[in-house]
Amino acid sequence: MYNPYSLEGKIILITGASSGIGRAVAVECSKLGAKVIITARNNERLKETYRMLEGDGHLLFTCDLSNPDAIVQLVSEIPIINGMVCNAGTNKMIPISFMKYENIQEILNVNTVAPMLLLKEVCKKKKLSKGASVVFTSSMAGVGAAATGNGVYTASKGAISSFLKVAALELAPRKVRVNAVCPGMTRTPMIYDDNVQDEELKKDMERYPLGRYGEPQDIAWAMIYLLSDASTWVTGTNLVIDGGLTIR
Ligand SMILES: NC(=O)c1ccc[n+]([C@@H]2O[C@H](COP(=O)([O-])OP(=O)(O)OC[C@H]3O[C@@H](n4cnc5c(N)ncnc54)[C@H](OP(=O)(O)O)[C@@H]3O)[C@@H](O)[C@H]2O)c1
Repeated sequence: MYNPYSLEGKIILITGASSGIGRAVAVECSKLGAKVIITARNNERLKETYRMLEGDGHLLFTCDLSNPDAIVQLVSEIPIINGMVCNAGTNKMIPISFMKYENIQEILNVNTVAPMLLLKEVCKKKKLSKGASVVFTSSMAGVGAAATGNGVYTASKGAISSFLKVAALELAPRKVRVNAVCPGMTRTPMIYDDNVQDEELKKDMERYPLGRYGEPQDIAWAMIYLLSDASTWVTGTNLVIDGGLTIR
């Protein structure tokens, strides 16, 4: 059947696959024919994702990406890949006067340093096939949507949204493409912080022109476009998926 978005024959590494967006990407990629390599820290939740996958031949690796040695180890164990979704991420709302070196370091390590080191390592170990597609999960915060208390996270995503452009240039000679998706608020465990009341979320949702927050699949389907051969002429872009919030 004609399907330019098919992932048949592709092997795709997905980080942060134990939950939320990463889990949805893994499941949807498997439904479109990919073999996926899923990774995160929590082995139980990763196994839950694994059981949701379609087809066979998928791989699972438990890995803490805030540890650079663990990244080197992960890459040494995986086969050559056709796609990579650097999606693992963390967030904490911290007003500027409450920022601590440790908080800043923790958020930057997972959201910024880890994706950079992972890309470096797959390049160095020649684990990216010619024509591979790399997708980062940035955020609407990374491309200009400012919210009070979100400074560290915004900086961590802004760095990735800039970095990808240089990576796209450097890797273009091998036809490797590098892009990001920049979601608005998406219904995953990340947004249901203990300090955030349901009422606050409901009020915030009303600002979205399309009238709702995103679902993990909304983001996964955009990533599938970027991973598939339908986007072979797309590189260096930040694709905003936010129900229209940032056009206001
Ligand atoms: N939800 C939103 O509204 C939203 C909006 C814009 C962007 N994003 C971005 O989307 C991405 C996915 O987030 P989500 O919303 O799906 O949140 P989530 O459900 O909390 O998932 C985060 C994932 O990252 C993994 N992770 C966190 N720290 C890690 C570490 N040190 N090493 C390895 N894996 C780690 C978690 O797995 P373990 O805990 O098992 O390690 C989990 O699988 C993140 O980059 C986030 O910043 C989310």
